[in-house]
Amino acid sequence: MVDIHKDFAEHSIAEFFKKNRQMLGYSGKIKSLTTVVHEYVTNSLDACEEAGIPPDIFIQIEKLGQEHYKVTVEDNGPGIPKKLVGKAFGKMLAGTKFHRFQQARGQQGIGGAGCVMYGQVTTGKPTKVTTSSGNGTIYECYLTIDVKVNEAKITEEKEYSGQMRGTMIETELKDVLYQKSDQNSDEYLRRTALANPHVKITYINPENLTTVYDRAIDAVPPMPKSTQPHPKGITVDDMLSMVGATTARTIKSFLTTEFSRMSSAKAEEIQKQVSFDMDKRPKDMNWQDAEQIVNAIKKMTFISPPTDVLIPINEKHLEKALENILKPEFKSVLTRPPAVYQGGVPFIVEVALAYGGKAGISVADGQQLDNRMEIMRFANRVPLLFDTGGCGLTKAIQAVEWKRYGLQQDLPLTVLVNFTSIHVPYTGAGKQAVIDDEDIIKEIR
Ligand SMILES: Nc1ncnc2c1ncn2[C@@H]1O[C@H](COP(=O)(O)OP(=O)(O)OP(=O)(O)O)[C@@H](O)[C@H]1O
Ligand SMILES: [Mg+2]
Repeated sequence: MVDIHKDFAEHSIAEFFKKNRQMLGYSGKIKSLTTVVHEYVTNSLDACEEAGIPPDIFIQIEKLGQEHYKVTVEDNGPGIPKKLVGKAFGKMLAGTKFHRFQQARGQQGIGGAGCVMYGQVTTGKPTKVTTSSGNGTIYECYLTIDVKVNEAKITEEKEYSGQMRGTMIETELKDVLYQKSDQNSDEYLRRTALANPHVKITYINPENLTTVYDRAIDAVPPMPKSTQPHPKGITVDDMLSMVGATTARTIKSFLTTEFSRMSSAKAEEIQKQVSFDMDKRPKDMNWQDAEQIVNAIKKMTFISPPTDVLIPINEKHLEKALENILKPEFKSVLTRPPAVYQGGVPFIVEVALAYGGKAGISVADGQQLDNRMEIMRFANRVPLLFDTGGCGLTKAIQAVEWKRYGLQQDLPLTVLVNFTSIHVPYTGAGKQAVIDDEDIIKEIR
């Protein structure tokens, strides 16, 4: 018989994404370039905000040759500790955001390393990182990913004294293209400014044109608090992985300490419905036990998840941003009260309409968009420029009967939606579209 297993082999997550780089947004030359800007800028914004620093971000894209560019992104954030630089940018599925229940732009621990990898596989060159916490010492290195083992390879490390606070990252890329398009970095950053009126952005594009988006407001949005999972959103498997990590001594105290909205009265209510003693150790919980708990939770009611963990743009700031960037003749903004999807994940929808001025105008050619209004999608303030058709946010807006409101599609109209959540349910690792979940669609409509 043929031995079908003679070539059986293991491979790393980095090898997987090298082969399937389109999953991270690396398909199409224009899109690939925007993806790199997007990943670095979202990282910078997350880092600054987490450190309570009003973000001041510098972005430059230089043309080095035919389909050959260099992207530089510099922030004024807290910097990255030297021993974490390799993990931050040279290892996939590594970062500070994956395991927490907290609103942020990044959530996977792949984005930064994805850029480094795309740079290295298209140019053979490493990415340069320069970073400092502002303590007078600057750390600098070049890095690539050792794809076989998903580890960083760091070379030319240097430490020297100097005044800097933040992180600067420089990546050379080939097989990418900058051209006039509503999906290029110009548009990406314009939309970033729109949804982040507290951010200063300085951008030099490949044509050497400098655009500065000044802050429309001075305050940094309050840092979203982290929360705990809500009982209603939990599966049996989630429950079992959580018991593996808890320090609680009994299942009862595990429930009351690791979940939001789980009072001791609620834990007692669960105890009455299960056939085992919840004073036993969490690590003795087996699949059947967890299943009983989850089934009990299904029959119970809980207070909705806390919503002060969500920080939307807010109506006042959104209005300022619209005035600043679109200068419309008419505008209307709305921040909805919090809602919940998949039983336990809180989210907030914001919608804005802008008419006239620069609304509904294509940035690529300065013309009004042909027979369609402009839909701007955002998730946690991050512009979503791609995968429009497959996105629940688009679907919800298109489902509105605009004609009933006397709005034809060929008006200079921009419709903006911002979806804010502790976990954005993206359809893929490229984070460009949100699933078309019933609760989400209903809320947007
Ligand atoms: N400019 C920066 N300043 C400070 N820390 C940073 C910066 N960029 C990245 N990091 C750190 O590196 C980690 C990895 O970044 P990466 O983009 O790979 O993942 P992520 O942002 O956590 O999630 P995602 O894959 O969804 O973007 C971040 O979680 C953060 O801790
Ligand atoms: Mg990121």
